[in-house]
Amino acid sequence: MNWDHIYAQAKQWVQEAGNKIRLSFDEILTIQSKTNPNDLVTNIDKDIEQFFIRKIREVYPEHKIMGEEGFGDKLVSLDGIVWMIDPIDGTMNFIHQQRNFAISLGVYENGVGKIGLIYDVVHDELYHASCGNGAFINEKPIPALKETTVKESIIALNATWVMENHRIDHKLMIPLVKDARGTRSYGSAALEMVFVATGRVDAYLSMRLSPWDFAAGTIIVEELGGLVTNLRGEKLNFLTQNSLFVAKPGLHQTIMKDYLKDGKW
Ligand code: IPD
Ligand code: CA
Ligand code: CA
Repeated sequence: MNWDHIYAQAKQWVQEAGNKIRLSFDEILTIQSKTNPNDLVTNIDKDIEQFFIRKIREVYPEHKIMGEEGFGDKLVSLDGIVWMIDPIDGTMNFIHQQRNFAISLGVYENGVGKIGLIYDVVHDELYHASCGNGAFINEKPIPALKETTVKESIIALNATWVMENHRIDHKLMIPLVKDARGTRSYGSAALEMVFVATGRVDAYLSMRLSPWDFAAGTIIVEELGGLVTNLRGEKLNFLTQNSLFVAKPGLHQTIMKDYLKDGKW
């Protein structure tokens, strides 16, 4: 498999998709809700997912595709090469703010992360990594992550207090929120993951996300020495919804032990 070629191609498609999104800023959006009134999708989310699927099918017909808006394949395994696409991560921000959203695209081979791309369209910043070759913002290398303490950290979290299996009591988070230097919530899991990758925040916790939300970010964060697990400290399952806990090295272990009770909650 020519991974350099796939990497170059994926970057080009993401940039093209970003241009399409920028052009849509002057258009009137068609907005629908999905599972609940706040779970939104627009015609642009759908167009962008279909754009990627057309491109991938044209060049790599044997690859499989998991897309948030449902135009890809129904996957029952991660065998082979799988593209995991979130055409717009942060759709609510896209609709309300026209910023704070990103395109997220991860490519996996037999469940192992190979290429991750997260494109902050408004800032024209493409965060990308290929496994073992470092991570970058546009052409600039991102330095490896350094350890930090809870007291000196900014923690990003989601106020979606619905856990993967409804067993978490959100009070579990209170001591961490109290002890950290500050908390943030940006509304795009993909951006929050690259904020950990770039050290803008030190950790990110979320109760329930889907594989397309964290597929690309996992590759980028791990490439820089960060740790990515669920809130119990376990490996993520890329076929189902998961909780998510992303943090700098050292900080991940500390939060896991001192605040998340080593997953025994
Ligand atoms: C959402 C964003 C948000 C997170 C939600 C996701 P979407 O993705 O990542 O930050 O809290 O759980 O569903 O729907 O905008 O692609
Ligand atoms: Ca998403
Ligand atoms: Ca989305």
